[in-house]
Amino acid sequence: MRVRTESPIVVIVGGSGGIGRAVAAQLTEQGASVVLVARGKPALEAAADEIERRTGRKAAVYAADCTEAEEVAGLSRWLAQTYGRVDILVYAAAVFSLAPAQSLDVEEAKQAMEINYWGAVRTTQALLPLIRRSQVRCIYYVSSVSVQCTPAFFTAYAASKHALRGFALALRQELRPQGIHVGILSPGPVLTPLIQGHIHSGMYRVPPGVPVLHPDTAARQIVRAIHKRRADVTIPRRLAPAARIAHVFPRLMEAYYRLTIRGWDQLVLEQTHQQRDFTPHR
Ligand SMILES: NC(=O)c1ccc[n+]([C@@H]2O[C@H](COP(=O)([O-])OP(=O)(O)OC[C@H]3O[C@@H](n4cnc5c(N)ncnc54)[C@H](OP(=O)(O)O)[C@@H]3O)[C@@H](O)[C@H]2O)c1
Repeated sequence: MRVRTESPIVVIVGGSGGIGRAVAAQLTEQGASVVLVARGKPALEAAADEIERRTGRKAAVYAADCTEAEEVAGLSRWLAQTYGRVDILVYAAAVFSLAPAQSLDVEEAKQAMEINYWGAVRTTQALLPLIRRSQVRCIYYVSSVSVQCTPAFFTAYAASKHALRGFALALRQELRPQGIHVGILSPGPVLTPLIQGHIHSGMYRVPPGVPVLHPDTAARQIVRAIHKRRADVTIPRRLAPAARIAHVFPRLMEAYYRLTIRGWDQLVLEQTHQQRDFTPHR
């Protein structure tokens, strides 16, 4: 049965995770009708329950793997039948891993491309006809500040986020004449399951001056960016100048790591040395 609602229909892919879930809670609180999408049904339902406890309003859930074309097409059909349109799509699904490039697990790196990049492409293609039926017409991709400030060991993840950014920049120009807004949201570190177990490890050092945000803090800035139809937002805002400088002068960012993280070069050597004679089997 078609749900008739004036409130914006927001689809959040990756809505059961840290940032997606926090954005979903804040938008639901503000009156949006939010649909959470992810692979795991239990985590989706737990997220929807938590949002209901926090806001008194329900979020809908739909289990789909964005790497599976048929499941994404199923999501699109279900949204068409249930709401008839999509006002805002937020693509926040991702996986993360760290490794010295020499020993990169190619299958894992391909999986990062599949979810972080191709999943966004597939979802966008499937949902665009529904976005065209809306008056609001917004798409937001959750990228990462590691596109501008790319540290060692981020090869697989940063490559997938570079691809996503390239896609979004070109798409923005294609969709502008149709009145569809494309925004890119680039958070720094946010304490979510994605990076727990990695952050502050040998391969993931956080330079001084870079805060590790709570998901609710990141979500507040994302929600503000959505309301203002911002095009390119670094989260937190105070990292924006550093991201811009690092984009233009990438070697300055490398120097910043070396200067501010004691023993950084030695640490990188140790991590890569362990892998020097390792031959990837794939
Ligand atoms: N946390 C950070 O420090 C940080 C920094 C910069 C950017 N970001 C970006 O912010 C976004 C959200 O990250 P997060 O930290 O909130 O991660 P998270 O807590 O791990 O959440 C990731 C979400 O993506 C979903 N997902 C993963 N693979 C999927 C697939 N194949 N199909 C559909 N859904 C899938 C997960 O649910 P299932 O596993 O059940 O599918 C989960 O809902 C990501 O794009 C991430 O790259 C995060």
